[in-house]
Amino acid sequence: MPYTRRETFLPFTRPMIGQAEIDEMIDSIHSGWITTGPKSARFEEELQTYNGVPHCRVMNSATTAQEITMQCLNLQPGDEVITTSLTWVSTLSTVVLQGGIPVLVDIDPVTLNLNPSKLEAAITPRTVGIIPVHLTGLPCPMEAIWDIAQRHGLWVVEDAAQAMGATYKGTKIGGDPRSVMSVYSFHPNKNMTTGEGGAIAFFKDEFLPRIQRLRFHGIERDAWKRQSKEGSVHIDVTEPARKANFMDLQAALGLHQIKQLDGFNARRRQLFHRYLDLFQGMDEVMLPTPGDEIHGHCFHLFVLRLHPEKAGLSRDEFVAALKEENIGTGIHYRPTHWHTYYQDFYAKHAHALPKDGLPHTEWSGERLLSLPLWPGLTEEDQDQVVAAIKHVIAKARKNVTV
Ligand SMILES: Cc1ncc(COP(=O)(O)O)c(C=O)c1O
Repeated sequence: MPYTRRETFLPFTRPMIGQAEIDEMIDSIHSGWITTGPKSARFEEELQTYNGVPHCRVMNSATTAQEITMQCLNLQPGDEVITTSLTWVSTLSTVVLQGGIPVLVDIDPVTLNLNPSKLEAAITPRTVGIIPVHLTGLPCPMEAIWDIAQRHGLWVVEDAAQAMGATYKGTKIGGDPRSVMSVYSFHPNKNMTTGEGGAIAFFKDEFLPRIQRLRFHGIERDAWKRQSKEGSVHIDVTEPARKANFMDLQAALGLHQIKQLDGFNARRRQLFHRYLDLFQGMDEVMLPTPGDEIHGHCFHLFVLRLHPEKAGLSRDEFVAALKEENIGTGIHYRPTHWHTYYQDFYAKHAHALPKDGLPHTEWSGERLLSLPLWPGLTEEDQDQVVAAIKHVIAKARKNVTV
């Protein structure tokens, strides 16, 4: 079939908001209570049940949740935390904001996740913890990470922003007490959304009052409890803190999104495997791994890596050419240590980068792009993405040979 350009722009992701979510939001508006309240509390219970954890607390974003985990763990200036550069910047910035030093280790070039064989060389007397990032929704090899953490007396906080619904050895990410806390995101491009929003999953009861305080002005009791008939109107601030609470309007979305999450992820899985089939035999691109029994993928992103020398154009030229064909893509992510602030930061903290650099992170960072993937994507949309990719590469290769 001759190639024809898609008529309308296809974004790389789109949230799946249905009538049930809309009705629930309208119900909140009519109820007279739209900020943190009973629906937020119900959503926390749903998250706990879904993930198999005793405590989940919601707040305005995963970034805030990450910041609060670092405060809760009393991260001190100069403390070192080991993580990867191929992540959203908040994984590092929330450590830096507390005065900590994110020490970077390279990724596994197949999975794009932290390579545990690199961990021990990065541990120093200042190391306090490890933040593995389940990038693309593919779980990290947690057993090796927990083992090293335990031997060196380090905590593990999982960046599970992209991993709602993913499993490790059959347990939901965040549901293993060997990680002290895990953080989920409900940003609109995630597998389920509350508009904006994030949550901390944890096992220890002792963190509960501090997390409540740190998300709301240093006050332990939620406003809706104070303003209810039984509540006391008096408050007491026991430490200074941000305002990062979650609204019932957001919970209205979350309560219905979480019910659909397994269905959404099953559809993502189908589309992910269909992409793998459609790209079979194309040697200009490197395909992502679909996970396995141990690493239960939730198929958040389908990340291709382009071989520029074979394709005849760079990744950035490829992204621009696909846009011309009405195909949207994303870049997840530009390695954090390439950003201006972190170039300066690591110039000052050279010991926080491995002596042999981050070759796999940089190799992938130059080549990766995320293709359209969300449950509402049709097979026709997907065929158009693949046709556009083949068309752009064929055109680029022709220019190279001429
Ligand atoms: C790996 C990772 N960590 C953290 C975040 C931060 O999430 P939020 O936008 O909810 O703050 C994101 C969001 O894109 C992410 O992908």
